[in-house]
Amino acid sequence: MVPVPRTRLSIKRYPEGSTTGFILTTTTPHHCLPSFVTIFNHPQHLHQLRMSTITLVTGANQGIGLSTAIILAKQHNHHVIIASRNADAGEKVAASIRNDGASASSLQLDLTSDGSIEAAAKTIEQNHGRLDVLINNAGVLLDGKNPNQSTRDLFTETINTNVIGTAVLTDALLPLLRKSSQPRVVFLSSRMGSLHQATVTDTPFYAVDYKAYDASKAAVNMLALNYARILDDVGAKVNAVCPQLVKTNLTGYVEYGITTDQGAERVVELATLDQDGPTRTFSDRDGSIAW
Ligand SMILES: NC(=O)c1ccc[n+]([C@@H]2O[C@H](COP(=O)([O-])OP(=O)(O)OC[C@H]3O[C@@H](n4cnc5c(N)ncnc54)[C@H](OP(=O)(O)O)[C@@H]3O)[C@@H](O)[C@H]2O)c1
Repeated sequence: MVPVPRTRLSIKRYPEGSTTGFILTTTTPHHCLPSFVTIFNHPQHLHQLRMSTITLVTGANQGIGLSTAIILAKQHNHHVIIASRNADAGEKVAASIRNDGASASSLQLDLTSDGSIEAAAKTIEQNHGRLDVLINNAGVLLDGKNPNQSTRDLFTETINTNVIGTAVLTDALLPLLRKSSQPRVVFLSSRMGSLHQATVTDTPFYAVDYKAYDASKAAVNMLALNYARILDDVGAKVNAVCPQLVKTNLTGYVEYGITTDQGAERVVELATLDQDGPTRTFSDRDGSIAW
């Protein structure tokens, strides 16, 4: 059987009419997005220009993830991969971003399924060959939501999604992040995961009993620091961010929460850092947060 080519190549003379150079454009089969352009204008002079930043946002079908993906696609020209548990919900978001003239695709991803994570990593490798930005946004807050849930089940479900799933996904994507010239990883954490904040008794949330969620976000902070270490040799910028209290499904659309666009502000800043940007930080849009 003849193998189906994974990429389509188009060749143009460069500059127009030149006999010495040409541009080779490689596009992926799914959305015709140029993955990179190679300019040959002399055998010894070869430039490979990346056309767009490839960004994966988990849990991007709603809430802060959705706003982050839209802002990165429309204002920063990233190609955003909308990862969502429900494939249809993700594709609906990607299609709407494409309709607005920006670049997006979608991917089914359930952080509690190793098979789903493996398949997602494989698809990104086949379609793009690398990953520039990973936004570990997907998460759950289950404390107090089901009075019949045992403490063991509450912790197991929360940690499995927020911590284990996030670690398994990030590990699966490390080889693709290593292929990026400017890898960026953003972990959606929370002030509730700060050990320091948990000792400050006069904050409005001191008495809020979110043991499982808080423990999971403290662990997410530790993941961020570990992946910063692991990716240091390739100049990656790996940071944890608190979006602040945001009006989303996770908070029951709390009346005094900020908008999802405001919640995404610091996430977008950390996703678009230049080479001088920080790594190993924990912050929100008002500044740094004590670990
Ligand atoms: N909202 C806040 O005030 C606040 C404050 C601090 C930190 N954060 C953090 O910000 C992040 C985004 O929260 P949000 O407020 O935007 O929440 P949200 O609107 O409830 O969105 C959460 C997203 O995570 C996805 N998700 C949940 N479990 C998943 C799994 N097993 N696999 C893949 N995706 C999964 C959800 O998918 P479905 O649509 O399928 O459920 C949804 O897309 C979370 O990590 C949260 O802890 C939020």
